[in-house]
Amino acid sequence: MQITTQSFGTTPDDIAAAAGILRAGGLVGFATETVYGLGGDARNDRAVARIFEAKGRPHFNPLIVHLPDWQRAQAYAVFSDQAKALAAKFWPGPLTLVLPFVEGSGLSPLVTAGLDSVAIRVPAHPVARALLRAFDGPVAAPSANPSGRVSPTRAAHVLAGLSGKIEAVLDAGPCGVGVESTILGLVDGPVLLRHGGLPAEALEAALGTTLTTGGNAQKPSAPGQLASHYAPEAAVRLNVTCPAQGEFWVGFGPDCTGADMSLSPSGDLVEAAANLFHILRVADSRANGSIAFAPVPEVGLGRAINDRLRRAAAPRPKG
Ligand code: TXA
Ligand code: MG
Repeated sequence: MQITTQSFGTTPDDIAAAAGILRAGGLVGFATETVYGLGGDARNDRAVARIFEAKGRPHFNPLIVHLPDWQRAQAYAVFSDQAKALAAKFWPGPLTLVLPFVEGSGLSPLVTAGLDSVAIRVPAHPVARALLRAFDGPVAAPSANPSGRVSPTRAAHVLAGLSGKIEAVLDAGPCGVGVESTILGLVDGPVLLRHGGLPAEALEAALGTTLTTGGNAQKPSAPGQLASHYAPEAAVRLNVTCPAQGEFWVGFGPDCTGADMSLSPSGDLVEAAANLFHILRVADSRANGSIAFAPVPEVGLGRAINDRLRRAAAPRPKG
């Protein structure tokens, strides 16, 4: 899909227009103090699917949810006393906390890539804060660059990579910090998942401990864990055009007459990505032993969808 990308400044009218685009499910590039983010409504499956499409990401890794303050973040993440203390000390600022998520908070499962934790960030940039307040909801935002390219620190970088793929960019000049936020995992004790704009030493001083850097934010909490979290109970078969008797068949595109459900009846990859995690759950609860997925083309978002389906189909350890 090719669209016209509008370039906004930072007047109150510009911010209101950008918030309106987010509300309508559109995508907005916006400045934070670290790097420019590519924002979409974190509750809107289709908007989140379009973030992955615009970036051309070959897999669904979890996104950071941006909020204007800690109070509003509590609707989405469970804050321990330790998390509250860090939030009070470092937010707003270049620190992302990975926390247990609040069940039923309405976040799209694509945002967390099916994990039961969520990454929360309260940015300090005044334009980011104004946009988040005007939108008044959770904004999923990876860095606003095509997958595999460096993070953008100016609106021109965002346009160079994503013009024609997103609705708008809010130009607030160069980012002050210039590297992404530091990511601290607080799900099973503090783990530094990514070095970034807040020095690890500052976190260590606040926590009173030395941080381990065992985790890897690119491959959250070990790829195996990610895979098994999304592994349905039922067996999963891929590229099935002719399901077996009694098998639960998930179609894609118009040629799947008789399918029990469809990722997208019209064969729209954005719709399929938006439906994927919901359908995995529903199919698993309704299937009688085996789920068969119709072929999904290995192009654009189809690569990320197939990556996730292959994980669901992969043999896995029990327990
Ligand atoms: O400074 C930043 O953090 C920028 C601005 C836009 O806020 N955002 C950013 O997002 O760098 P992104 O998507 O490029 O990086 C997010 C990282 C990913 O490496 C992802 O794996 C990790 O956060 N992450 C997100 N949720 C996670 C989770 N539940 N567990 C572990 N890692 C997670
Ligand atoms: Mg990035």
